Amino acid sequence: MKRLFYLLFAGMLTGILLFGSCEKVVYPPPEIPDTVSYSLDIQPIWDNKCVSCHNGGLDPDLRPENSYASLMDGEYINVDEPGESKLMKKLDSSPHDARATKAEKQLILVWIEEGAKNN
Ligand code: HEC
Repeated sequence: MKRLFYLLFAGMLTGILLFGSCEKVVYPPPEIPDTVSYSLDIQPIWDNKCVSCHNGGLDPDLRPENSYASLMDGEYINVDEPGESKLMKKLDSSPHDARATKAEKQLILVWIEEGAKNN
């Protein structure tokens, strides 16, 4: 009887350990590509969510022909500390926090982490 109890206990423990370790596997969100492209992934966010206001009269100028230079020249991007970028801080504070989705902000952050290339 005692042996059966130990067997059950050992089985349960193994189950918990296995299940527990399975739960810790973290998959990257599917919408983040391996290499984020500025022109294909980031500019469309500006086009859809920002250019209605940031169209030249308001810094940063996020129109396709000017956005990259405007972000770099205005020092909105901090490649050494991506989360500290002026751009990311803006997108985390009201009312700008509602102007891009969580997934879009994540994509922008990964783009900066990858070196904020004009790719
Ligand atoms: C409804 C109009 C509007 C939209 C849409 C908008 N913005 Fe803005 N944004 C402003 C205004 C007005 C300011 C200046 C006042 C302020 O700092 O909040 C500003 C300021 C900023 C600044 C700080 C500029 C500085 O020099 O301090 C950044 C960065 C910025 N916006 C990025 C964005 C991005 C990225 C988007 C799209 C996801 C966006 N904005 C969408 C109106 C808008």
